[in-house]
Amino acid sequence: MSERLNVLLIGSGGREHALAYGLSKSDKLGQLYVAPGNAGLLQIATKADVSESDHQAVIQFCQDQDISFVVVGPEAPLVDGLSDSLRAAGLDVFGPSKEAAQLEGSKGYTKDLCAEFNIPTAAYARFDTQSEALSYLADNPAPIVIKADGLAAGKGVTVAMSQEEAIAAVEDCFDGAFGEAGAEVVIEAFLEGEEASLFALCDGKTALLLPSAQDHKAVGEGDTGPNTGGMGAYSPAPVMTKNLTDDVLSKIIQPTLDGMASRGAPFSGVLFLGLMITDQGPELIEYNVRFGDPECQTLMMRLESDLLELLLASARGELAGKTIETSDDVVMNVVMAAKGYPGSYRKGTAIHGLADAEALEGVKIFHAGTKMDGDQLVANGGRVLNICARGKSVTEAQARCYAAIEKLNWEDGFCRRDIGWRAIARENQV
Ligand code: AMP
Ligand code: GLY
Repeated sequence: MSERLNVLLIGSGGREHALAYGLSKSDKLGQLYVAPGNAGLLQIATKADVSESDHQAVIQFCQDQDISFVVVGPEAPLVDGLSDSLRAAGLDVFGPSKEAAQLEGSKGYTKDLCAEFNIPTAAYARFDTQSEALSYLADNPAPIVIKADGLAAGKGVTVAMSQEEAIAAVEDCFDGAFGEAGAEVVIEAFLEGEEASLFALCDGKTALLLPSAQDHKAVGEGDTGPNTGGMGAYSPAPVMTKNLTDDVLSKIIQPTLDGMASRGAPFSGVLFLGLMITDQGPELIEYNVRFGDPECQTLMMRLESDLLELLLASARGELAGKTIETSDDVVMNVVMAAKGYPGSYRKGTAIHGLADAEALEGVKIFHAGTKMDGDQLVANGGRVLNICARGKSVTEAQARCYAAIEKLNWEDGFCRRDIGWRAIARENQV
């Protein structure tokens, strides 16, 4: 790869700010464009005034700006087939095809793949009528898990500890609480264990493991309250030992790549595994077909290899023989959200103190829902800032994150105060 590449990045979250930060470190990068971006992204990338849903406009923009590589951050444009359109126009794309994105777009699709290729996952059944789903519940008592089949922004899953909850969840789905996503329902056995996430870069045949990470989905301390997109994360996840990781690669990731290839839908992009580490070993909870947010931010701070080269190799089917170098540091990300999130919240409130916070050792802030109002940084979403810090331990990384948050002045913001609590308890045991 000798020439410098102009790149278009699709997305507007903390994940994309972190990807842009990673791409910017590459000396192979020419111009970086972003659509639609946020205040942080627009400090390091040029705004591309196109809508990701208008595939033809994206292609035209790439041709006009001499862009040959597109990195797609979020799942919605992938499930919508943006990669297919761009590839058909001769562009390299980081991200799976529309069919391969069904691994995230349809929980039933993934469960069927697991069944066909013997990939460990919870026992399940698929339903497209309420009456059949309810009669299945009568024979399969709680605890049990009810999932809307389609994309529901992380909100379509109910872990029902009682029969009443299970019935209500089925009724909600078929009553349209998740729109089209709930027209089909997957019911699966409840798995017990510790959760972990793992990420693998894939090129259709080969998978390269990225570091493990763990997020905190619940809004409240002690992992209580409603689920969010993620209130914090840290990497590595101590639960993912080397043996466990090897097990996941051979029993889950490689059979998935082989199975998708044999279905004529080879998977390229990043495969994000939600795992439950049970007494019987790791089981797949779900796949996502893009980086996790807030996990990605921690991975990008640990990555030492050239991100642009890796993503391009994934897009071009050239990952075989490559390696991924990462720092041994622990990185934590504490999300600051607007008060009220994940319910309703205000936009437009002023945020101060970022430069002071970022001046602290090991600290880096990625923007999520932010924008500039004149020369004032303001909140423009639910999850607004990602306060990240590296350290030699989870304890040190956490202390640095919260010290940075002390420097911020944003009256309308809040964060969880216990990100990493499980990992810190582990550190305190040894
Ligand atoms: P998902 O959106 O599929 O990742 O599910 C959201 C959350 O629900 C997961 O992070 C788990 O905490 C929980 N969950 C999903 N499936 C199961 C299962 N079969 N057993 C126990 N918990 C589950
Ligand atoms: N942090 C979970 C997700 O990105 O889906």
